[in-house]
Amino acid sequence: MSEQNDTMVHDFVKRLYVLSNPDDCKAVYDEWATTYNADVQHAGVDYVAPILTASAVIAAGGNISGSILDAGCGTGFVGVALAKSGANNIDGIDLSPSMLEFARKTGVYKDLTVVDMTKAINKQDQSYDVITCVGTFTQGHVGPEPALQELVRLMKKDGLLVCTVLNDVWVSGGYKAEIERLEAVGAVTVLKTEDMDYYRRGDDQQKARMVILKRV
Ligand SMILES: C[S@@+](CC[C@H](N)C(=O)[O-])C[C@H]1O[C@@H](n2cnc3c(N)ncnc32)[C@H](O)[C@@H]1O
Repeated sequence: MSEQNDTMVHDFVKRLYVLSNPDDCKAVYDEWATTYNADVQHAGVDYVAPILTASAVIAAGGNISGSILDAGCGTGFVGVALAKSGANNIDGIDLSPSMLEFARKTGVYKDLTVVDMTKAINKQDQSYDVITCVGTFTQGHVGPEPALQELVRLMKKDGLLVCTVLNDVWVSGGYKAEIERLEAVGAVTVLKTEDMDYYRRGDDQQKARMVILKRV
């Protein structure tokens, strides 16, 4: 990664993590969209969360021949990784129309919609076999409620939700508690909440939880 790309990532992330409403978040991602891919990836090794998530879907036995929703899809890294493994029925939702324009250019998404995941999602119950959500459960972005419950609602029985939650907010942001609640009410079985690399840059490594939930 060049120093310039590196600085851009730091600047945008610093601005994003202190935001408190979706309108501001949308404005920052609309601005970042044109350089996002180059800024977060260098030779495909730095921002590893999307590829690790796609691998986790497959390792957990997710039905990638079925219907997939990539929530907070951004420019489409996760969809591209899943498509390389044979998925061909992927929808994407995201807050930022500009990020979605780049996702559209990948050619791997069927339906791409502007959705604010801090609110109820206008899609039918039990629509998807697999839902991914990478890089979106973090500071200044999407909190655990109502988003986790909404994504669970959209999953078919035995479907998988595979998402990342940055370690910094795993407990303090209420994600762990909401996942425990969803398990306690019998909505999901928690298959995994494991430490994963999120972003690697030399010695500077950001860690996240890889969360895998199965719809009961
Ligand atoms: C770090 S990017 C991750 C994008 C993509 N999943 C990836 O791994 O490259 C976070 C994404 O979350 C989206 N986002 C932020 N707040 C959102 C909200 N309230 N509803 C839906 N998407 C949101 C942003 O627009 C951005 O595309």
